[in-house]
Amino acid sequence: MEKNTRLILALDVLDSDEAIRISEAVTGHVDAIKVGYPLVLASGLQIIGKLAEYASIIADFKVADIPNTNRLICEQVFDAGADAVIVQGFTGHDSLEICVDLARERNKDIFVVTEMSHPGALDLMQDAGEKIARMAADQKASGVVAPATRPERVKEIRKIIGNELAIISPGVGAQGGSAADTIMAGTDWVIVGRKIYQSDDPAKAAKDIVSEIKDVL
Ligand code: XMP
Repeated sequence: MEKNTRLILALDVLDSDEAIRISEAVTGHVDAIKVGYPLVLASGLQIIGKLAEYASIIADFKVADIPNTNRLICEQVFDAGADAVIVQGFTGHDSLEICVDLARERNKDIFVVTEMSHPGALDLMQDAGEKIARMAADQKASGVVAPATRPERVKEIRKIIGNELAIISPGVGAQGGSAADTIMAGTDWVIVGRKIYQSDDPAKAAKDIVSEIKDVL
């Protein structure tokens, strides 16, 4: 994934025509489009290949199964045209390793969820977040997912993983996080969904976030 605008669109719309229209509109303003269960369940896995015409595709399936099942899932998703898959880290080293190995073979990326961006992540996930970040670094995953809603946690996670791994951060906009604060905390890319795709002018919304990012670089 090229690091140009440092913005990733989370495209959680349900209609494939709308997904294509928004992707076309934001081309050049985003470095990647993150596609997850809402869009894929509503419009089929083939939407990944269609959107890949506009940007790199990160499949946010938060894969969390035994190693063999994780591999079967990642194979399907890479075959569909995704450049990267988001995988949960809490399932442990073997479940993660099989995904990282497959991605390496295919020249693709795995991003590992550490601590999620919503308030409930404090119930259980935060305690495991740093251990998961260390595991992602040990296994040389491409990067981790860390919360834009808690820039102080992004800083902590950056200290653990060093500069070899990337950080991608959801939680900007609708969940209250700031793109500028998250970039200054050490994230490589911010992930923004509703603030862009629910806007009357998604291209302008994306452009404004990119300007906010550029102002602090
Ligand atoms: P919004 O509309 O809130 O969309 O800007 C955020 C997008 O990011 C996903 N999300 C996460 N994915 N770890 C992840 O891997 C997280 O901590 C996390 N928090 C939010 C969410 O599903 C939506 O697509």
